Amino acid sequence: MSSQARAQPVAAAGFDVLKVRADFPCLQQEIHGRPLVFLDTAASAQKPNVVIEAQADVLRHSYANIHRGVYSLSQRATELHEAARARVQRFLNAASHREIVFTRNATEALNLVAQSFVRPDLRPGDEVLITGMEHHANIVPWQLLADAGLKLVVAPISDAGELLLPEFERLLSERTRLVSVTWVANALGTINPVERIVELAHARGIPVLLDAAQAVQHIPVDVQAVDCDFLVFSGHKLYGPSGIGVLYGKAARLEAMPPYQGGGDMILSVSYAHTEFQDIPHKFEAGTPAIEAAVGLGAAIDYVTGLGLDAIAAHEADLLAYATRALQQIPGLQVVGTAREKCSVLSFVLDCAHPHDIGTLLDLDGIAIRTGQHCAQPAIERLGHHATARASIGLYNTEADIDALVASLRRVVAMFS
Ligand code: ALA
Repeated sequence: MSSQARAQPVAAAGFDVLKVRADFPCLQQEIHGRPLVFLDTAASAQKPNVVIEAQADVLRHSYANIHRGVYSLSQRATELHEAARARVQRFLNAASHREIVFTRNATEALNLVAQSFVRPDLRPGDEVLITGMEHHANIVPWQLLADAGLKLVVAPISDAGELLLPEFERLLSERTRLVSVTWVANALGTINPVERIVELAHARGIPVLLDAAQAVQHIPVDVQAVDCDFLVFSGHKLYGPSGIGVLYGKAARLEAMPPYQGGGDMILSVSYAHTEFQDIPHKFEAGTPAIEAAVGLGAAIDYVTGLGLDAIAAHEADLLAYATRALQQIPGLQVVGTAREKCSVLSFVLDCAHPHDIGTLLDLDGIAIRTGQHCAQPAIERLGHHATARASIGLYNTEADIDALVASLRRVVAMFS
């Protein structure tokens, strides 16, 4: 029986998951003779036809370099690129398109903030405060500032994978240059209380960066309401292309920051003695950007907002609850990361099999999950493991996908027990 035939839509009202699945060509295939069950959306999401077509359309009909040409084709490409920026602005409810910087991905956006916001007037002993559930992209860029005296401070988490807020608050000090926390933890699924985190930090005059790489595809985000100073995400996890990411920054913050990289397009004038830079956001966008990827990201934003972030969130919450109940029935299975506020991610271990063996055997049944440390080694180790298996849910997943996962895991247990 195909996964299409097995699929039963979960209860989220007004969300037709079978119709949604038909938008994703990569899901319509078999792996090892079995219908693909894709449960690795937290690593990278599949792409709907509208995203694929939007990029193809630029490349076929509207492609030229942008911001440079007096000719019509270049102007059309420029308009499409800047229209994508406006879509990101509306998606995040940013006050101005000037606050939207295109980067390669969330990782590059974090490195940009590290090098252009934190490094320039860093004093030895200054601190960046993160949490114990961060992706490596929110650890390593700060460690690269150790040469200038930056100290990385980590707010502890509970055994369930929740931030210990009183400890977090105690670690805020006059040495804290920046609080940088994930909105949703990629390895554990924990949703952080970001409004409270911003409130606590701002009460002490400390700016806040939110890593929203695992949030924007699951939770409606309003940067003015949450009042963060910076926010980063990647296009490829939002059903858009890879190679495009976003740094949101409050205009006053970005204006005060020096450029991250130098080159074409980010300058007003260049002489051997002196260079004048463009205004924001362009002064942070050196060189030819990922033009068609930006347009594809705009199409992805139209797609998810067309479905409705609230409807997507309700569908995924139903599915996560269904999956959690089902997995907990499997003998010897332990869910890793049991925060009360959680979305989209189910990390687990089996007492009889290593995560890599689980992942390899599931693949033979056509099921794609991620195994290992999920670019979050300290978080996984904090919860007492060297590696986990991780099933992650996207808007196109169904109860049938979870049923297939559970049946395959039962075969793994039978084989190893
Ligand atoms: N950050 C991605 C993940 O969580 C790659 O798998």
